[in-house]
Amino acid sequence: MSRFWLFFAYAPIFMVLILSLAPLPSAHGVFLSNLNDTCFRCICEASTGCSAQADCRQSYCGPFSISRAYWMDAGRVVLPNDDPTRWGSFEDCANDYECATNIVNQYMEKYGTDCNSDGLVDCIDYTMLHVNGGPRCQGALGGAFASKFFQCLRSK
Ligand SMILES: *[C@@H]1O[C@H](CO)[C@@H](O)[C@H](O)[C@H]1NC(C)=O
Repeated sequence: MSRFWLFFAYAPIFMVLILSLAPLPSAHGVFLSNLNDTCFRCICEASTGCSAQADCRQSYCGPFSISRAYWMDAGRVVLPNDDPTRWGSFEDCANDYECATNIVNQYMEKYGTDCNSDGLVDCIDYTMLHVNGGPRCQGALGGAFASKFFQCLRSK
C-alpha cells in the first residue's frame, strides 16, 4: 500500500484519538442545562408573580426575590460595566430580569446538587436551592410558593 492509502486506512483511528482529546462538557454545563427559561420563569412566578417589578421588599430584591447575602454568595454579579463595589449595584442587577437570572445561574453553578435525592439535578432542585439556600437545600417546597411553582411548570 502506498503511503497515501495508509493515511486513509489510519484516518479513522486518528479521528477517534482527536475526538477523545476534545474537552468534555464540564459537570457544571451538564447539570445547568436543566436550568432553562421555563425553570427561570417558574421560579420567578412563584417568588413574586414575576411582574416587571423593580424594587426591594424587606431586603429581597427584584423578580426572583434575591437577598444581598445570596448575591454575595453567587459572586456579586452586576449589570454590564457596573462595579460590584458601587452602592446600589446589587439592587440594580437583582431588579433586572436578565441580570437576576445571571445571579441565580451563578448560585446554581456553585451549589447545584440533587436536593430531593431523586437521581436528577433538575428545575425542582434548583428551586429548592433558591428557596432553602445552598448548603442545606433538602427541605421540601411548600405553601403558596410550591403551588404556584408546580402550577407554572405544568402549564408550560
Ligand atoms: C425546561 O425545564 C422544564 C422544567 O424542568 C422542563 O419541563 C422542560 O421540558 C425543559 N424545556 C426544555 C426545552 O428543555
